[in-house]
Amino acid sequence: MSLKKIAVLPGDGIGPEIVAEAVKLLECLQQDFGFGMEIESAALGGAGYDQSGDPLPQETLALCQQADAVLLGAVGGPQYDTLERDMRPERGLLRIRTELELFSNLRPAMLYPQLASASSLKDEIVAGLDIMIVRELTGGIYFGQPRGIRELENGERQGFNTLVYAEHEVDRIARSAFDIAMLRNKKLCSVDKANVLEVSELWREVVIKVSADYPEVELSHMYVDNASMQLVRAPKQFDVMVTTNMFGDILSDTAAMLTGSIGMLPSASLDSAGKGMYEPIHGSAPDIVGKSMANPLATILSVAMMLRYSLGEAELANKIDLAVGNVLNQGFRTADIADGGNSVSTVAMGDAVVAAMRALSS
Ligand code: IPM
Ligand code: MG
Repeated sequence: MSLKKIAVLPGDGIGPEIVAEAVKLLECLQQDFGFGMEIESAALGGAGYDQSGDPLPQETLALCQQADAVLLGAVGGPQYDTLERDMRPERGLLRIRTELELFSNLRPAMLYPQLASASSLKDEIVAGLDIMIVRELTGGIYFGQPRGIRELENGERQGFNTLVYAEHEVDRIARSAFDIAMLRNKKLCSVDKANVLEVSELWREVVIKVSADYPEVELSHMYVDNASMQLVRAPKQFDVMVTTNMFGDILSDTAAMLTGSIGMLPSASLDSAGKGMYEPIHGSAPDIVGKSMANPLATILSVAMMLRYSLGEAELANKIDLAVGNVLNQGFRTADIADGGNSVSTVAMGDAVVAAMRALSS
């Protein structure tokens, strides 16, 4: 059996702490489940800058290009905020997305029944919530040219960015979203601002065109302002949502918080061949670094997504999901999901998942 190559990028802040727990789980898969893999680590973000003066070092990119999948912790930290823009950790993340052509970003927001009280919304509004946001990740205003800060004739400075989408970019993200809708409840809502923006008008046109290839999927359209309202008013009306890079950035944070536990949510960023980078939705949490307080479950669930979407190991992925559910049933909570009750450390949570996984190996 050929070994799967997994590139591991711990990154900054709590990144190394949570990734260590995910690696522990991968090692358990190798020892107890016959999962053949090879792990190699490299620096990204602030760690990359510290190591070689570049938030995306050449050898990190090369490693990721050769890997079957990439597991990322988180990047960023206050010590890097004053660096020149190109040297900041976030730029490393944006560049790796571009270099690997990871245009399709899957951000699930689901509420674990065991954590129902963690949401700031009423139980009946969020109970059973299970949404998938498909965010376009390599285009739109994040990358559009021209961009910059220029000086006007009167000496005043003006900042500018460009929101652009070519038809093929909309076509491929729409197909990605329709494919996912087909595996779920066959409902897709495309979010745009077609009442104001030409780029959204074209977006909507292309999405409608693609929908002809997916007659079973019920397609709807919503303006982004309304979508942000509907997400907190009646989120269960959504199954899959597809949207642009920046709208998706914003809406996915809202959707994540509906579950009350951003520390639980994984994500996948995929290219057209299904190769992907997997990371928790949360950030590098500089305030809790080194305290073993971080919740490793979002990273562990990202490993499950990796097995499912890139490594053809759906059964193992299901087992990880089950193990995480069992650990929650046993009452294990890190501080972020403890609701004021007893909490365990990052390491203890990782150990609990490995133990729950081993219990499923026979
Ligand atoms: C995210 C983050 C990034 C983004 C930042 C860190 C560049 O907010 O992954 O949602 O805006 O895409
Ligand atoms: Mg974001």
